Order: sequence, then structure tokens, then C-alpha cells
Amino acid sequence: MTTYRIAVLPGDGIGQEVTPEAVRILQAVGKGAGVGFEFEEALVGGAALDATGGPLAPGALELCRASHAILFGAVGGPRWDEVAHEKRPERGLLALRKELDLYANLRPAKCFPMLVDASPLKRSVVEGTDLMVIRELTGGLYFGEPRGVERFADGGARAINTMAYTSREIERIARMGFEVARKRRKRLASVDKANVLVVSQLWREVVTRVAKDYPDVALEHVLVDNCAMALVHKPTHFDTIVTENTFGDILSDEAAILAGSMGMLPSASLGGTGGKKGLYEPVHGTAPDIAGQGVANPIAAILSAAMLLRYSLDRGPDADRVDAAVLRVLEQGHRTRDIHSAGTKLVGTVEMGDLIVSEVEKSY
Ligand code: IPM
Ligand code: MG
Repeated sequence: MTTYRIAVLPGDGIGQEVTPEAVRILQAVGKGAGVGFEFEEALVGGAALDATGGPLAPGALELCRASHAILFGAVGGPRWDEVAHEKRPERGLLALRKELDLYANLRPAKCFPMLVDASPLKRSVVEGTDLMVIRELTGGLYFGEPRGVERFADGGARAINTMAYTSREIERIARMGFEVARKRRKRLASVDKANVLVVSQLWREVVTRVAKDYPDVALEHVLVDNCAMALVHKPTHFDTIVTENTFGDILSDEAAILAGSMGMLPSASLGGTGGKKGLYEPVHGTAPDIAGQGVANPIAAILSAAMLLRYSLDRGPDADRVDAAVLRVLEQGHRTRDIHSAGTKLVGTVEMGDLIVSEVEKSY
């Protein structure tokens, strides 16, 4: 029997509540498809900081290296706001991305027909939205050198972050963008700030060169400020978006609103040798305001597990079953608090997990 090793890193806040639901989904898939899953947990984020003194528990990185894929929850929270920069919970996640070379972050944002009214935007705007933000994840401002704070004798200071990209880094994320667009509606928007930043000028130059290898994909260059506006004005214009790290961080949160709730959005961070290694995490954060209450929406985590099946394990048909199970449960009218509206049935985290697990089981 094929057995997959999955590293499970729930992290903090609602990460600890939604990740177990994603694990249960994979167990149900294992039973149905006749494959084995071995799960091993490790601490990351504030949980790791409290228990081990650092944002990534000793052994966690090795566990991730030795696994087929990583199920990740979320990290951070106000409890650790005062912690020194290099020990912040977020550093655990950033270290994993960098160490495992997970350079491509795929964030699909789809407006589910039954959730159109959960979005604060008008139905006429969001209806039919189905886009994919591809965010470069290991370069740019997040990792560029030099960086740091200079303190002056007069009490003033100067802080530096550097947005740096090599043509190699741009080329590999651009290729990912074209490859993904090719499997979708064959339209790619490359987002930059080429009217101001030299980094963006290089970005544009490299993307344009790579485009010659993908004559079947229609490429457009969009300035990031304009893209931010178009996303809430005419989101159906977009199919696949490829952009650098910080722009992608911001635009993918904006795109989340199009899907009704952050609680619906999965993500995959791909890279490493062979491009198969992946870290799968819901786009939402730790949501300290609702953590520990059993009300968080596990769908983003569950759809992340589906992406894990699709991208790291090459099990597309199983991923389709999970996606379909989520749709069916929504069609039946079950909703967690974030997507609840009059006339639908309010359920908690575990109950939503139960419903989707049972639909997955029924599908085999
Ligand atoms: C995300 C998050 C992270 C990021 C934080 C937690 C470091 O906002 O995954 O989008 O900025 O990349
Ligand atoms: Mg973010």
C-alpha cells in the first residue's frame, strides 16, 4: 500500500482547530482510495516559541524535509506582539518557505454561487469570479538584503528593507504563472510597479521574454495600484495573476473578499527539487478574536488538503472528491458563522468537518 508522510503544523489560534479537520479529510480519502497517510505533528509559531524558545521547534524543519507534504495552520497573535523581530511567530513560517525553497504560492479565489451574498461586494460585481493569485514567496522585500534598523545618537533612526529579484527568480515564478494559466482560461496578468521600480522593470522584461515560450497564453502587464482597483471593480476580468511577494500578499487578501470569506480560501506553496514539495495552508490567519470557541470555518483548511492531494501527491481525482464534498455541504445549506445568513443552518468547526468527511466517504 502506498503510504504518504504528512507533516502537520497547526500553529496558533484557529490553526489548531481547523487543521485537525483537514487531517480527518485526508484520513477519509485514505480509507476510500486505499492509500495510507502517516501524520506527524510539530510545533510552529507562538506555540513553538512558548514550548521551545524559538518560532520553529527543533526537528520541525527535518520533519518537513522528510515528508511528502506539509499541512500548515496559521501562526501569530497579540500574545507575542512584544517578542523580538527574529523570534516572532511569523518567522517560523518564513523560515520554512525559505529553507524548503517554496517559491510559488498559489491562492485561488473563487466566488461560490451559494455564497455570493456573503461577500460585502455587490452580486453584480463578484458573481462568476474565479481567479488564481500566484505570489512569489521567497524573494523581494521579505528576504532582500540589506535590511535592518540604524539608530542615531540624536534619537532618530533609519530602517531598510530591500526589494531585490534576480532574473532567475523572476523567470521561475513567471513559468509557474504561464503553466497554471495554461491549465485555466489561458490569461495571465503580470502585476508590477514598472512605472516606478527598477525591480519591476526587470520583472516585466523577464516575463515578456518567458511569454515567447507560451504563445497560447494571453499576457497583460498591470500596474499594482490599478490591479488593486480592478479586483474590486471587475474581478471577473482576471484569470491568473502572477506577482512578487509583497504585492501578492496584499492582493491575495483583497481577493479573499471576493470569495465571501477568508475562511473559504486555501493555498499551496510549491517549490523545492522537482517542484513537488508543498506546504498547504488556509489563507486566513489565527483569528485570535474567535480562537478556542469552535466556530472557525474549516473549509479553507480542507480545500488546502485537496490542493495537497492535487499538487504534491498527484491525486487529482481524490482532490476533486474533496472539492465536490465541500460544494455539496454548502448546497445543503450548512454554514459556519463567517458565511452564515438568514435561512441557512449554522454549524461549528467540528460539525462542518463531520459533514464534509461524510460526503467524502460517500463519494467512494
Ligand atoms: C500570508 C501571511 C504571512 C505573509 C505572514 C503570517 C508572515 O500574511 O501568508 O499571507 O505575510 O506572507
Ligand atoms: Mg498575508
